[in-house]
Amino acid sequence: MLDAAKRLLMPSKRSDVAPFIVMDVMAAAARIEAAGGRVIHMEVGQPAAPAPSTARRAAMAALAAGNLGYTAALGMPSLRRRIARYYKDCHALDIDPDRVVVTTGSSSAFILSFLALLDAGDRVALASPGYPPYRHILQALDCEPVSIPITQATRYAMTVDALRETHRTSPLRGILVASPANPTGTMMAGAALGDLIRAAEAEGIAFISDEIYHGLDYAFAAETALAFSPNVIVINSFSKYFCMTGFRIGWMVVPETLVRTIERLQQNLAISVPTLSQIAAEAAFEGRDEMEAVKRGYEENRQILLDGLPKAGLDQFLPVDGAFYLYADISRFSNDSHDFARRMLSEAGVAATPGIDFDPLNGGKFLRFCYAGSTAHMREAVERISGWLRR
Ligand SMILES: Cc1ncc(COP(=O)(O)O)c(C=O)c1O
Repeated sequence: MLDAAKRLLMPSKRSDVAPFIVMDVMAAAARIEAAGGRVIHMEVGQPAAPAPSTARRAAMAALAAGNLGYTAALGMPSLRRRIARYYKDCHALDIDPDRVVVTTGSSSAFILSFLALLDAGDRVALASPGYPPYRHILQALDCEPVSIPITQATRYAMTVDALRETHRTSPLRGILVASPANPTGTMMAGAALGDLIRAAEAEGIAFISDEIYHGLDYAFAAETALAFSPNVIVINSFSKYFCMTGFRIGWMVVPETLVRTIERLQQNLAISVPTLSQIAAEAAFEGRDEMEAVKRGYEENRQILLDGLPKAGLDQFLPVDGAFYLYADISRFSNDSHDFARRMLSEAGVAATPGIDFDPLNGGKFLRFCYAGSTAHMREAVERISGWLRR
């Protein structure tokens, strides 16, 4: 009976994607907490602060008012206009609201953009280390993720030379870049981003820019890919700067020629994005002062780690430019980041993510710390790690 079911329901080859190892760390942390222990969480990339009060009030009012129906597939027109205005306010760019697509988090924007742009077998360049779901979503769609290692020599940015070299060996259909990036927290300078976009487009490679960590820039101001070309696909989200992970809402700005394609895909895949979240998201833009205060907290946390981790012995890390991540080299202590993270959790009570989640090749030597928690927790984490490494 069981064998028959197994044969009948054999999972497809393309669904055989790798798990997210951070989930193992989370599960182990939960076991310690269930047994009465205390854990400082620096493993999950999500803000500890709530969504802006403007967003929460708008959502409560909408619920109280009652009926929440579907919206247009591309999103509520007022929200699309408000998102377009964000580009005017923050980047002095005029973006036609018709090019804005509201999505279920940036996660669904990847699926929509990949489906709109790629056929099975198409190759897409990604930086390594990088956010694992880029790879896994491409694989699930029968496309080929092509990892391009990033190194200290270029401040951990993808370069024009590396892109051209990879394209010459075997042609690429797309490139996906994030700045600020996860897990590294590094950023590309505007000029380097512009050069990469121009080089990609000259080679016929479509450019996708994941700008989910925009707003969380400390080293210098993040530049949007839209400043360099009308033909890029920009993906963004309310999850990080606006602290709205659970609302599952994001957006894309797409070239005019792709709007109808993406509209048809969204109509069929989702009908529309949750209306309550769209209402909250529109109101979130009025809560920027609150979010700037949250950002100041991240800056304080960042400084605590920059000062404290080297004293603890973790003195090698990538430039901590933006987002809320610090990617530390742990090779002085271990080349097995999974084991190191497991021991740091059980012995020091600090949860962080092993680098192998983001970089199967060199990630054994790295650990990602998320500093989106409270400032008190960051201080305590540094003390605990320091005591643990100095035993
Ligand atoms: C680089 C990057 N892109 C996209 C996402 C997906 O976020 P969401 O679907 O919540 O917008 C994440 C989440 O951690 C991320 O780190």
